[in-house]
Amino acid sequence: VALTDASHRIVADLLCARTGQQLTDNRLWRVSSALAGIFRERGISNLDQLVCLLGDADEPDLATQVVEALLNNETYFFRDHAYFSILADNVLPEIARRRAASKRIRIWSAGCSTGQEALSLAMLFAARPECWADWSIEILGTDISIRALSVAASGLYSQFEIQRGISIGQMLQFFSETPQGWQANDAIRTMVRFKQASVLDAPPHPGNFDLVLCRNVLLYFAPPTRRAVFERLSQATAADGWLMLGAGETVIGQTDLFVPAPCGATLYHPVGNRPQTIRTPVEQALAGLPA
Ligand SMILES: C[S@@+](CC[C@H](N)C(=O)[O-])C[C@H]1O[C@@H](n2cnc3c(N)ncnc32)[C@H](O)[C@@H]1O
Repeated sequence: VALTDASHRIVADLLCARTGQQLTDNRLWRVSSALAGIFRERGISNLDQLVCLLGDADEPDLATQVVEALLNNETYFFRDHAYFSILADNVLPEIARRRAASKRIRIWSAGCSTGQEALSLAMLFAARPECWADWSIEILGTDISIRALSVAASGLYSQFEIQRGISIGQMLQFFSETPQGWQANDAIRTMVRFKQASVLDAPPHPGNFDLVLCRNVLLYFAPPTRRAVFERLSQATAADGWLMLGAGETVIGQTDLFVPAPCGATLYHPVGNRPQTIRTPVEQALAGLPA
């Protein structure tokens, strides 16, 4: 198959219109397997038949279901564990110093999928009550996928999902076993809020986020779309805030709105409006300055 195939083109255009994602030739092999469930439910066997049904007045939700099925919602708790350690040990303490007066931290998990990233962040705070007890911590997770967000909102995960990334200790501390699976406790859920939004839309309320995570989301966007997303992310990031991308992702050659932060781990600072006098301990060490 190739994208010149009319039915593939229609599905690719639908995905792009709804999410900004590009269905390149090298992702086409996934289409039929991703849509297999929809084929089965409808008793159809190929994409041409599906495309015919897309215009059917009896199938108002089919286009949404197709888009949902084509999204890659892969995620897990503490994905790229070392990066969460850098957040816990370097970034959050630095934000705490900068926000000592307001005692308010705002974080945005953009493309949060089923919520593991946002809840992993919440666990970092909950694990150190002595530092954060009297702070207002707001973690906003947004995603385009309603299906993923409904899992996120339920806070319910299977044993397998729990075991992918979190320790037994964390499981027992932050989750409770229910007949439906392991459910995140209020201790972490109250910090987190989920909302449907595209990263291409205007940044979500309240904006001015101290830390924005947009990990493993940008890879399916064409370069101009990716640039537009970086613009949104930079609008959403506080002048002295941080952006974290996924392992293997970079801003280099993609945008000049962010520059790499010296502590690595795909962390970036917004450019231009950042107060140059404030340096993180890592930056101070690298610059040979006294802490
Ligand atoms: C591979 S998951 C990454 C989840 C998590 N950030 C991580 O790194 O584990 C990518 C997520 O991006 C979401 N996504 C794709 N296009 C989007 C868009 N335009 N706006 C918001 N979310 C989008 C998908 O629905 C999916 O849940």
